[in-house]
Amino acid sequence: MPNRMYDLIEKKKHKVSLTEDEISWMVRSYTQGEIPDYQMSAFLMAVWFQGMTDEELTWLTLSMADSGDRLDLSGIDGVKMDKHSTGGVGDKTTLVVTPVLAALGVPTAKMSGRGLGFTGGTVDKIESVPGARSELSEEEFIRVLRAVGFVDVAQTREIAPADKLLYALRDVTATVDSIPLIASSIMSKKLAAGADRIALDVKCGSGAFMPEQSSAEALADQMIRIGTMAGKRVIALITDMDQPLGCAVGNLLEVWEAIEVLSGGGEERLRELCIRLSVEMLLLSDRFSGTEEEAEAAVEQVLSSGQALERFLHFLREVGGDPSCLFEGTDRTKPADPEQVLRSISPGLIREEICMEKSGYLTSCDTKEVGMVSVMLGAGRKNKEDVIDPAAGILLKKKLGDHVEKGETVAVFYTNLPEVLPDAKTRFCNAYTVEDSKPEETPVIRRILR
Ligand code: URA
Repeated sequence: MPNRMYDLIEKKKHKVSLTEDEISWMVRSYTQGEIPDYQMSAFLMAVWFQGMTDEELTWLTLSMADSGDRLDLSGIDGVKMDKHSTGGVGDKTTLVVTPVLAALGVPTAKMSGRGLGFTGGTVDKIESVPGARSELSEEEFIRVLRAVGFVDVAQTREIAPADKLLYALRDVTATVDSIPLIASSIMSKKLAAGADRIALDVKCGSGAFMPEQSSAEALADQMIRIGTMAGKRVIALITDMDQPLGCAVGNLLEVWEAIEVLSGGGEERLRELCIRLSVEMLLLSDRFSGTEEEAEAAVEQVLSSGQALERFLHFLREVGGDPSCLFEGTDRTKPADPEQVLRSISPGLIREEICMEKSGYLTSCDTKEVGMVSVMLGAGRKNKEDVIDPAAGILLKKKLGDHVEKGETVAVFYTNLPEVLPDAKTRFCNAYTVEDSKPEETPVIRRILR
């Protein structure tokens, strides 16, 4: 058995492959506090420069997945699905895709995260619905999955604690942006969460971890290879994050927008991505034997018939949520006006219309900056302990490629923090470029890796 971290650092420094025993020893010893941070930091930096082989990466991922609890989903019949997005601004696709799949008989068991920094988190969105809880016990997790056909909540028990420790160390040693380290970090949590098949939504662009498509593809490729070696079937969609997804950025606002899509409407690019993800996951699940066109028709059908919306509302009720504020009166087929929704939970909410200072086409967006503006308004956290305002957010009235007139409203801010408005407005307007000629349209789905 290896017992000296020094030797492993030395090997990695010279690009000599580590063995399975060495990697599992290292992860276990580090998690138990037997390897000091300074040695693990040196190792991580050596990986940053030298990379890892496919075998090393799989052993690292499996060791991290085994460092805590693994969820046992064997009591649920059939193939279980999971979905992961690498994070972005306005990404509420999980809230649509999981009930769509449930309505088509495909169970999805998903553990989501909270938002941190410029990215939003599904758990915060669900908890923005009055009464809804995201912290479920493992028994509740399984019960909701059985009752509704999908479950989407915070982590139940301690999933991949080694990743938690390593991620915190990477954060302070400039080693987050390493494709093998990101891939193993994400996949360790996915493997521990117990699903059989996994769809990855790897974002690229100005509001993503990976601004360049080539690095997003390399990350996707590596995650697929890890999943395959661990016996899972994995697909990845490389999708656009060069502007927020859809029109809503903020927690309850995003639930409202998800309900728009679940009611058969919704912004075009958001709807397209939700449908494509659902189709790809349906085909991946083996629960559907038809063609791609037939899968798409089936997805459209559960959206237009209200079956997917019904699943979503059922899920909210199972976790204690009261979705009545999202609808007009007792009609559960059409979402209410978004402002009315927000005011129902925050009557004093401030509304501020945002205009550009010149006319022209919106040609580019610093999406991270738009995410940071939503955080300033109260919709996100700068630090883990910050409390978010479920009603705060941004409703976009214009998207890239749209023409705007000077003084025309491009977005509406909602906040309970009037003091942040001057800065938030300046940062939002500076995040966009306005030019005379219309930009070329970019697809929301850039590539699918199966
Ligand atoms: N998300 C993760 O879970 N891990 C990373 O390393 C990066 C993003």
